[in-house]
Amino acid sequence: MNDLIIKNIGQLLLPKKMDRPLKGSEMDALEIVADGMVVIKDSKIVYRGKETDKYEATETIDAEGKVVSPALVEAHTHTVHGGSREHEMALKVQGVDYLKILEQGGGILSSVKSTQEATFDELYKKAEKNIIRMIQHGVLTIEAKSGYGLDKDTEIKQLKVAHKLEENYPVQMKHTFLGPHAIPKGRESEEFLDEMIELLDDVKDLADFADIFTETGVFSVNESRRYMEEARKRGFRVKIHADEIDPLGGLGLAIEQDAISADHLVASAEEDKQALKDSDTVAVLLPGTTFYLGKNEYADARGMIGHGGAVALATDYNPGSNVTDNLQLIMTIAALKLKMTPNEIWNAVTVNAAKAIDSDRGTMEVGDDANIVLWDAPNHEYVLYHYGVNHAEKVIANGKVVYE
Ligand code: NIG
Ligand code: FE
Repeated sequence: MNDLIIKNIGQLLLPKKMDRPLKGSEMDALEIVADGMVVIKDSKIVYRGKETDKYEATETIDAEGKVVSPALVEAHTHTVHGGSREHEMALKVQGVDYLKILEQGGGILSSVKSTQEATFDELYKKAEKNIIRMIQHGVLTIEAKSGYGLDKDTEIKQLKVAHKLEENYPVQMKHTFLGPHAIPKGRESEEFLDEMIELLDDVKDLADFADIFTETGVFSVNESRRYMEEARKRGFRVKIHADEIDPLGGLGLAIEQDAISADHLVASAEEDKQALKDSDTVAVLLPGTTFYLGKNEYADARGMIGHGGAVALATDYNPGSNVTDNLQLIMTIAALKLKMTPNEIWNAVTVNAAKAIDSDRGTMEVGDDANIVLWDAPNHEYVLYHYGVNHAEKVIANGKVVYE
């Protein structure tokens, strides 16, 4: 006997499972089954497709003609941190630049101080609220970065908090070491970077990826290359915060270093965007950050997809440059500001987001773990169109309803 049937699905969204991310025009292809049904047994999908009376189960959910998709995948967050920075919002509104605030010891460095001062339990309790909200918004796979420690003990504390959350909640987490996220006051970049490279050995068992903030006043492209090479020697796949504000060439470096993803890419060079096509590096775009920083220039998603690149979308949830854990909101911003199509957007928060963090999630094939969302929406465009509210009606993790 099967455990659960979801029947009467108006639109069953089936992103294509492949061993690489969807690229270019593939991103606009999304199989949408009308009158769909999903059957689950032992936490796995045993059937998905047109409704049929061939299956029975102990429990049935009537989707009432609404939308069902794979649970969303959140490919870029800074979930674990101490404190908050609401006072910086007024500065930002007055026109004080994000990098200026950092230069003056605020911004990331202010969150570093709060994170160093917080106990493990304080960090856990704070991040737990974010994880619960993400689950409620339809997300069951989450990447989380360190980077608010900049010292061994605090970086490890952050990573361990994320592991404990993964133990206690029905989410798959991917863990990223972002030691080179800022340079502590009074330190010199090369010498601090050496210390972070040494730390790679200490976080080997706690982190899947090594990330770096390549930006004016933070780490240069050459320093970032050195870090990435050292990380790769130690067996890490690398990620990069690239070209968020200034066009330093971080995307080109990411492709050269076979990064699993390059994130932000607001100011990336034309030739680097074109080079995405011949790499499997996923461009993780974070348009909520552009919005929240109050900027008008968004990442060139149309150019990147047009040139045959793979694009994913994520919140970048963090205490400074984007303070939301609602990925649905980012889907709307992607539609309006990145001019992505609904199909591209759904692929960008499922399969391609999964590829950006080396997760096998984001699809609903037979045999996949049943991580599924029932959306209170008549069609998949509606979720982007009616914005700022939560459309997730039921969230199913490994075959069990975990939120409704
Ligand atoms: O991805 N840009 C660097 N890191 C984060 C922001 C961190 C912060 O402001 O606390 C980002 O935007
Ligand atoms: Fe970030």
